[in-house]
Amino acid sequence: MKLTVVGAGIGDPELLTIKGLKALQQADVVLYDALANEALLDHAPNHALRIFVGKRRTVKTSTQEETNDLIVQYARTHGHVVRLKGGDPFVFGRGFEEMEYARRHGIEAEYVPGISSAVAAPGLAGIPVTYRNLSRSFWVVTATNSDGELSADLELAAQSDATIVVLMGLSKLSEIAAIFKRYGKSDLPAAVLQNSSLSNAKHIFGTVDTLEHQLDTLRTAPSVLIFGEVVGLDVRRALEGLIVEGRR
Ligand SMILES: C[S@@+](CC[C@H](N)C(=O)[O-])C[C@H]1O[C@@H](n2cnc3c(N)ncnc32)[C@H](O)[C@@H]1O
Repeated sequence: MKLTVVGAGIGDPELLTIKGLKALQQADVVLYDALANEALLDHAPNHALRIFVGKRRTVKTSTQEETNDLIVQYARTHGHVVRLKGGDPFVFGRGFEEMEYARRHGIEAEYVPGISSAVAAPGLAGIPVTYRNLSRSFWVVTATNSDGELSADLELAAQSDATIVVLMGLSKLSEIAAIFKRYGKSDLPAAVLQNSSLSNAKHIFGTVDTLEHQLDTLRTAPSVLIFGEVVGLDVRRALEGLIVEGRR
């Protein structure tokens, strides 16, 4: 009877850790999210149940409470439950809550880190979240709180010189841009990084002022927003012809 909460990585199935792979190979049940690449399910043994518990499909989706109960039920009836979650399970992923719930029900729980979109989406777009003398720290902020309100942390973040990475923020882009503008940062380099690491990845570079007008169709794709001078660093390199063709 065991739960292993595994970070599936940012999307590309090759960006799974070896430890995550081994956990999948020993699964009796895999409960997976929308952002976990389904190709990873091939690593589970034939006998393992594969159950979608994501929140993005048109079919009935599971609430967090239902997912917690499924973990406990399947651990009791089947043995080893792998909870496969996009990115890192502890970055806006509720992985810790699931482990706590399992432990409260007498089930051993282990955490296997994953590659988070917070760092890898910028990296794959050629943007380092820190860069010597340009950005000495980075914030990872969710756009909204659990009540759907814009996160108050954005207001603080916008006043700092740090690189600001916003998850779950695409639908709030104009409100977020407005905050940066209030602090005189209309010209701050910014980017929207969609479907990062996948074949349909799309990277849109601009500034706080221009970014929302540059968006076209992909209003619903998983997207990381990034604000900071490090984004401009990449633009400068691109202008200098140092970006390898096809990398974006
Ligand atoms: C519920 S959060 C989970 C974050 C995840 N635990 C992580 O560490 O990446 C979902 C958000 O992650 C971001 N995200 C995840 N995968 C992404 C990808 N392949 N490309 C761009 N953004 C992604 C988006 O901001 C999305 O709205």
